[in-house]
Amino acid sequence: MTEEVEWWEYDDATELAEAVAGDVQFVIESALDARGGAVIALAGGKTPAPIYAKLAAAKLDWKRVTIVPGDERIVPLGDPLSNVTMIAKTFLPKGARVMPIVPTATPDYKAAGRSADALLQDLHWPLDLCLLGMGENGHTASIFHGPDYDEALSGPRERRALGVMPEPLPEEAPVPRVTLSRQGIVTAKALTIVITGAKKREVLEQALTAGESSPYPIGRVLAGAEQPVDIHWMA
Ligand code: 6PG
Repeated sequence: MTEEVEWWEYDDATELAEAVAGDVQFVIESALDARGGAVIALAGGKTPAPIYAKLAAAKLDWKRVTIVPGDERIVPLGDPLSNVTMIAKTFLPKGARVMPIVPTATPDYKAAGRSADALLQDLHWPLDLCLLGMGENGHTASIFHGPDYDEALSGPRERRALGVMPEPLPEEAPVPRVTLSRQGIVTAKALTIVITGAKKREVLEQALTAGESSPYPIGRVLAGAEQPVDIHWMA
């Protein structure tokens, strides 16, 4: 069951970006203080770009920070749809270790998922933080309806990532994906969601109410949350 949810609302994009970047910075600093390293997963999509720009301006020992995308479209590195390429543009110049989870765009999406899982198995785990976005259809990371839905939600506990074929393929990026599993997401020490617009808010509220019986992937994912979830929202 979702532990506890806190909504944070903003009037403008700068305020939202500053607040979320500040929270992520705090998590990274705490992990650096505690063990000299931090591992975080960042969302792809368009919403978080201003947050990443603010976060990258933070004074941090970036070389001890590992960043992975929470999900990836199976496309070559450098492709406009590649989440890690977007993240790397902002954080590589700071010296962070930005790790692709799909270093090679293989046509076998299940094999891509297995290699991503193997890469993530080498990281300090659980994640210090997982930042999530959400689509208007209620998907989060790349947990979509389709043949891999049950595996993403209820696969082996140790599995951190898997390959998925969304059904239908999402219009904004109609390609198979690799995604963190629900287990990989909900075990993160901090879980932060950033969404904008009335429609997404309505979907997320319904998803939270229905929980494990929600038709929306995010409802199912958050039903397994093991710690409070922060939701940042702007109209
Ligand atoms: C992706 C994502 C995805 C994203 C939502 C929202 O790679 O598609 O990580 O889960 O967060 O689709 O995307 P927007 O922020 O672009 O609306």
